[in-house]
Amino acid sequence: MTEQRPVDDEELTIPAGYVQGLFDLAGRVAVVTGGGSGLGRAISVGYAQAGVTVIVADVNDDGVAETVATIAAQGGSAIASHLDVTSKEQVDALADRVVQDHGRVDILVNSAGSAFRSPAEDFPEDRFDFILDLNLKGTYLCCQGFGRQMLAQGKGSIINLASIGSFIAYPWASAYLASKGGVLGVTRALALEWRDRGVRVNGIGPTLMDSPLTRAAAQRSSITADWIKARMLRPRLGLPRELVGAAIFLASDAAELVTGHTLMCDDGYLVA
Ligand SMILES: NC(=O)c1ccc[n+]([C@@H]2O[C@H](COP(=O)([O-])OP(=O)(O)OC[C@H]3O[C@@H](n4cnc5c(N)ncnc54)[C@H](O)[C@@H]3O)[C@@H](O)[C@H]2O)c1
Repeated sequence: MTEQRPVDDEELTIPAGYVQGLFDLAGRVAVVTGGGSGLGRAISVGYAQAGVTVIVADVNDDGVAETVATIAAQGGSAIASHLDVTSKEQVDALADRVVQDHGRVDILVNSAGSAFRSPAEDFPEDRFDFILDLNLKGTYLCCQGFGRQMLAQGKGSIINLASIGSFIAYPWASAYLASKGGVLGVTRALALEWRDRGVRVNGIGPTLMDSPLTRAAAQRSSITADWIKARMLRPRLGLPRELVGAAIFLASDAAELVTGHTLMCDDGYLVA
């Protein structure tokens, strides 16, 4: 263990205004992958309302344009960016561009992701690769690309979208569950390696949410969604905006001692 630095008396007090500053994100720069839809869009809009400049990054250019337009209509600041998170080249190029244009990157939210439903015994190999590539490797590449800059700054907060499926199983989702278990591992691994250099890495673990991802899956089959819904403490999908508070907390100085943690926003799903 490294030696404890001396703490002066002033640091042991809570000065006036301390709490107001805790959650203040004004002037910070965030990159939100998957910001063109669902949870990433809600978090992008929420950050912009908190005064953050948001780089909305997604393969879906129309979705990105809609998110950016929503933020602009509310008086916030957002920049559209085409990004395929599975391309290391594109991720690293965007990281360089953000630093060039904005001088720094304070927050990264990894929300790009997808799902594919199939019984495990017939799970198509190419779909397995696709899901792992996008949900796990894409998250890793972005942590790496933007994390490097945060390490150089000596400060940053990364938030990975995990899932109740990081902890429990449900049917026809073996690739998704493997990827989200992996996201948990990446979150812990990077938190450990980067903690003493000022970069915090955490996760958000939502319940089943009302988003385009789950609506599309429900059209293909309801086996997975029905299983999850039957085990909810109350029959209610989460709303994308209900994750915004958690995303603000984890990005903010209020979470200074929080790293390697996945904050469940699951309406108590894992309790039962
Ligand atoms: N919706 C839920 O119930 C739920 C629950 C738990 C966790 N999650 C996770 O939250 C995240 C967001 O889910 P969502 O519900 O908002 O899904 P969504 O489908 O609404 O949005 C996902 C976004 O990711 C983008 N994307 C896909 N491939 C990409 C790529 N290669 N590069 C960049 N962007 C890409 C899509 O274009 C889309 O805009 C995912 O990681 C998902 O696994 C969702």
